[in-house]
Amino acid sequence: MALQNGDELSTEQLLHAQAHVWNHLFSFINSMSLKCALQLGIPDIIHNHAKPITLSELVDALSIPAGKSHFVYRLMRILVHSEFFVRVADGDGGEEQYWITPASLLLLRNTPLSMAPFVRLMLDPYMMKPFDHISEWLASEKHSSPFELVHGRSLFEYVGQEAGLNNLLNEATSSDSRLFTHVLLRDHKQVLEGITSLVDVGGGTGTTVEAIADAFPDMKCMVLDLPHVVGGLEGTNNLTYIAGDMFEAIPSVDAVLFKWVLHDWDDESCIKILKKCKEAIAGKDKTGGKVIIVDIVMDVNGRDDKEMETSFFFDIALMPYLTGYERTEKEWAKLFFDAGFTDYKITPSFGLRSLIQVYP
Ligand SMILES: C[S@@+](CC[C@H](N)C(=O)[O-])C[C@H]1O[C@@H](n2cnc3c(N)ncnc32)[C@H](O)[C@@H]1O
Repeated sequence: MALQNGDELSTEQLLHAQAHVWNHLFSFINSMSLKCALQLGIPDIIHNHAKPITLSELVDALSIPAGKSHFVYRLMRILVHSEFFVRVADGDGGEEQYWITPASLLLLRNTPLSMAPFVRLMLDPYMMKPFDHISEWLASEKHSSPFELVHGRSLFEYVGQEAGLNNLLNEATSSDSRLFTHVLLRDHKQVLEGITSLVDVGGGTGTTVEAIADAFPDMKCMVLDLPHVVGGLEGTNNLTYIAGDMFEAIPSVDAVLFKWVLHDWDDESCIKILKKCKEAIAGKDKTGGKVIIVDIVMDVNGRDDKEMETSFFFDIALMPYLTGYERTEKEWAKLFFDAGFTDYKITPSFGLRSLIQVYP
């Protein structure tokens, strides 16, 4: 609510504003509780129990001192509130029990659709530290990102030299690709029909393209990524890994795929990359040659408040690391037209993300 200068708050407004500030300053506790549950393996323990679990059974399975069970109770209480678990009343009037929800199913280790690697990456202290330095970075002209200010190198340079963070990043993006391709191939396979050759640019270790190559055995598939990401990876008869730089060259194909790549880059860089794509699909008509982009479109219709907030989180989550941002439809369209494309179609069907097809 907008206030006039000098407005005095009513008691109700004052206390409401205080609660609002508290809620926001403590929002990190949601992330940290989630991280703690994952580190302890709570989703797996409850899932493996195969039926709702009591607090004492959970504490036993966690192998922590029984005297700490109240701390586990408090952790579970906030995780129930945030819908990672449900509390199930015991019919015999005994101890309350906990059971999993769709969100905790996605936090199981070693399941194909697990999001645990992405949680591990984003909440790693190395990745979180730059958030503490955004204001310092904004006030200075020296560094390309808060990540560079704190760690002395850009994110992609850093992961090229540090195997630990490189693995964490590759596992995180692969886990997202497994969930993405599951939805793509189940509900939107037609987007890929008729394509005879495709390159996934910035495709990481190839999880997306492996699934596409399996589903379309006649399609010639490629992954183009930096040498530290694809170096040493073995292809198959319809899948090739190319160690290269998308700013230098993109192989000639029917379709170029970018999943979670263009939002990493500023407009000037995106236009350079898109111009390279235009050369790569030169000669293809509207039914064949296209660029397929999977990223957020900030202003697609039908978002509820929570989805809108998550889109803002994604946008700010790019700020400490990279030069890109989450774009509105108008901002995307300007990139496409500035790079020489003439048409595009947005399908807002991947949860927060959209699938954008761009035509020459
Ligand atoms: C956020 S990740 C997305 C990975 C994958 N597309 C996915 O969604 O799982 C961005 C990818 O772009 C790659 N990348 C960065 N700079 C690149 C360049 N100049 N040429 C090719 N790939 C690049 C990174 O190595 C990384 O794998």
